Amino acid sequence: MHKTWGGRFQGDTDQRVEEFTESISFDRRLYAHDIAASMAHARMLAEVGLLTAEEAEAIVAALQTIRSEIETGQFAFRVELEDIHTHIERALIERLGDVGRKLHTGRSRNDQVATDMKLWTRDALDTIVGLVRDVQRALVEAAERHADLILPGYTHLQRAQPILASHYFLAYAEKLERDRTRLLDCRDRMDELPLGAAALAGTSLPIDRESVRKQLGFARIAANSLDASSDRDFLIEFVFALAMIGVHLSGWAEEWIVWSTVEFRFLDLPDAFCTGSSIMPHKKNPDVLELIRGKSARVVGDLHRLLVLVKGLPLAYNRDLQEDKQAVFDAFDTLAACLRMAASLIRAARFRPEALAERLEDGFLDATTLMEHLVLAGMPMRSAHEAVGKLVRKCEERGCRLTDLPPEEYDAIRPGLSPGVYHIVGVRNALRAFRSLGSTGPEQVAVQLRRWRERLDTDARM
Ligand code: ARG
Repeated sequence: MHKTWGGRFQGDTDQRVEEFTESISFDRRLYAHDIAASMAHARMLAEVGLLTAEEAEAIVAALQTIRSEIETGQFAFRVELEDIHTHIERALIERLGDVGRKLHTGRSRNDQVATDMKLWTRDALDTIVGLVRDVQRALVEAAERHADLILPGYTHLQRAQPILASHYFLAYAEKLERDRTRLLDCRDRMDELPLGAAALAGTSLPIDRESVRKQLGFARIAANSLDASSDRDFLIEFVFALAMIGVHLSGWAEEWIVWSTVEFRFLDLPDAFCTGSSIMPHKKNPDVLELIRGKSARVVGDLHRLLVLVKGLPLAYNRDLQEDKQAVFDAFDTLAACLRMAASLIRAARFRPEALAERLEDGFLDATTLMEHLVLAGMPMRSAHEAVGKLVRKCEERGCRLTDLPPEEYDAIRPGLSPGVYHIVGVRNALRAFRSLGSTGPEQVAVQLRRWRERLDTDARM
């Protein structure tokens, strides 16, 4: 095919090269942002006298038409036109002739693509922030719905201490809050306009970057053209934030996969979110959770792709950078889908309080609180640890719980211990005894739940 911008070439481009180098198959997704940036650029060119007002108006109007053609599927994409920037500019020239040939004044595809990617990422980031908030909402609703439910808390996946289900849900709300603010930090750092960096060195034309900055709503102008045209840090930060969310979701998914097994029976997953087996008629599989766990691997992989892509690249633009898009788009699409599923699943799943209550007293969840009770009674912590350890062994020998031990066993540790101790042992008693800030004690959890409710209500009013 004949070269699109080919004054210096004699021959045509090899078709295999066109197919190898094209990005239109995936960067067409940037069309709206590309057009928005071109409109701002055209208006600025008119402000500084590089276009007449009429020329800029004609360009803006034609860009609007091109946009609606793309949106209604009337726009023809062609591999030989390489990328979205060339497609739109070519369509403009087909419509406006020489006026269309003026749009690219004072800019390059290098600062153009950097700008498009920033505009796209800014929107994508806002979408993710909203989806994370929705999952947090679902978690807080679940925390409110399960206000008194007690769960066994685990470390090393071994029963450890009792926790409130609401405390459990709020733990994930906190993790996601770090993710959310990490995204907002990223948004703030990337809020610099690249356009005007041109190919790498800026331009000798009297462009007004401040005007473009204002029109496109960036907080600042990128200060160094070499940096601005090659910077992809913002994509890596964004995808890192997505990967981190994926990692958080995958831990939660794993927990719920285990909790919904016959072995655990803590959770009832809604039928609508499970699938059957092609051979085993009784099966109800947690595929959605498994895929949330599995898809997080893709996002982590996308982050890896981006880091390796930019590693060792010299300044400024290199065509390698074209490969950034699929990784970022994939990370965004994948994680947005996971967040949507997570919110729905959290809203629809139900704990099984009877199944939980049946086995809550197993596993000595109250042992640590008993030890702390001895500490309060004046026993050195290490001695209390040992004493309770011995009681647990006795229980195991007899096949009973700490609540079942007779008073003599307690009084043997410390005379007079027995009457009060029965208000301490037992999972409910143990749970009530927690009091430190941020603990799973009912008062502490109530404070946190109120804080979350207020935060979400304020957020909803904004
Ligand atoms: N399609 C290219 C990309 O995505 C646009 C920039 C091309 N610039 C260039 N000088 N070839 O990176």
